[in-house]
Amino acid sequence: MVLSNRARSLKPSPTLAMANRARELAAQGLDVISLTVGEPDWPTLPSASQAGIRAIQDGQTKYTAAHGIPELRKALRPWIFEETGVEYSESEIVVGSGAKFVIAALLQMVVDPGDEVLIPSPYWVSYPVMAELAGGIPRVIECTEATNFLLTPQDLEAAITPRTKALILCSPSNPTGLAYSHEQLQGLARIVKKYPQLIVISDDIYNRLTFSGNPIAPHILKADPSLKDRVVVVNGASKAFSMTGWRLGWAAGPAGLMKFVADYFSQTTSNPCSISQYAALGALQKGKAELDKSLELLRERCKKGLAALKDVPQLKVANPHGAFYFWVDVKAWIGKTHEPSGRKISGSKDVAELLLDSCHLATVPGNEFGTEGYLRLSFAIQDERFAEAVGRLKKFATSLS
Ligand SMILES: Cc1ncc(COP(=O)(O)O)c(C=O)c1O
Repeated sequence: MVLSNRARSLKPSPTLAMANRARELAAQGLDVISLTVGEPDWPTLPSASQAGIRAIQDGQTKYTAAHGIPELRKALRPWIFEETGVEYSESEIVVGSGAKFVIAALLQMVVDPGDEVLIPSPYWVSYPVMAELAGGIPRVIECTEATNFLLTPQDLEAAITPRTKALILCSPSNPTGLAYSHEQLQGLARIVKKYPQLIVISDDIYNRLTFSGNPIAPHILKADPSLKDRVVVVNGASKAFSMTGWRLGWAAGPAGLMKFVADYFSQTTSNPCSISQYAALGALQKGKAELDKSLELLRERCKKGLAALKDVPQLKVANPHGAFYFWVDVKAWIGKTHEPSGRKISGSKDVAELLLDSCHLATVPGNEFGTEGYLRLSFAIQDERFAEAVGRLKKFATSLS
């Protein structure tokens, strides 16, 4: 078959692969519980859906500007200001087809072949692949439990070389749910400032799903607003507005760079779906109370889920600051043998496979996020199903020796 080298080295998304396998088993009639997928299980915020329906009825169904309708970019200004403490003009904001594609486009516009992209681990599975697709070299900086899986200024500085072009930060993190504090971000900002060739891509997709009482996670630009021309803020409608299928994301950054990202959109996707743009506008204008309500539900689930998981023998779980994932330490299970199957567990991948095969519980193993010894469990599912999932984990624990 005629395939490019790029195609040959392309890895499919492992989280989607696990979710698909779980779906296949469910299609065979098995009662599979999937804790794999990174999307809210509640409906799209009504303010967004209603605005989307109105957009169809009003005929807003044609091409728009490649980087989004002016009304939406205007409405994003105060929204992004609230998050970063920094003012952006409409020419510094682009709207694209989901935060994922926005990050991919940004990397295409920033990275030359051989340039390095710093990615603290555990990382969201798509970052290294997107850096490679841009011809870059993903440089993973290992972050451990000792620092709450957060990047330290020392480790950041040690990883920077003359070829370093970008650092990707994600806070609260997928997969850990852990977030940087204001002070920790100040520490990172101090290092970033010393290396003018480096830009920061701040993936803020979970920044409004927080559990600390503060409605928005701390931001590197709040820690140091003088970095405005070195930081690109990325966010989207998927998580906060439960609009994963609508495919809408945005970025705010230096006008010079945003122009090229907009040009990249114009030559690839053209505009993001017009209907989705009006829907997101509806959520920005009228969705605040709805977002608060979904957050209440999520916080409740987090509390209950944590309490239940802490009851599973040998597992350790960190209290997430946001997002909807538990990052569960399963190292105590590694090296053990699963009695009924006789299979020896040599890593988190084995744990995930055995959980799926023997308990019909789908999870994502830590090795997919660059960190061995953990599982990521999504708690964006109904309470009863999560409770049932924890029951299966307990049963699994008793089947190991
Ligand atoms: C860390 C992170 N960034 C970005 C995205 C992509 O979001 P979108 O649906 O807007 O492409 C996700 C989705 O799972 C994510 O977990």
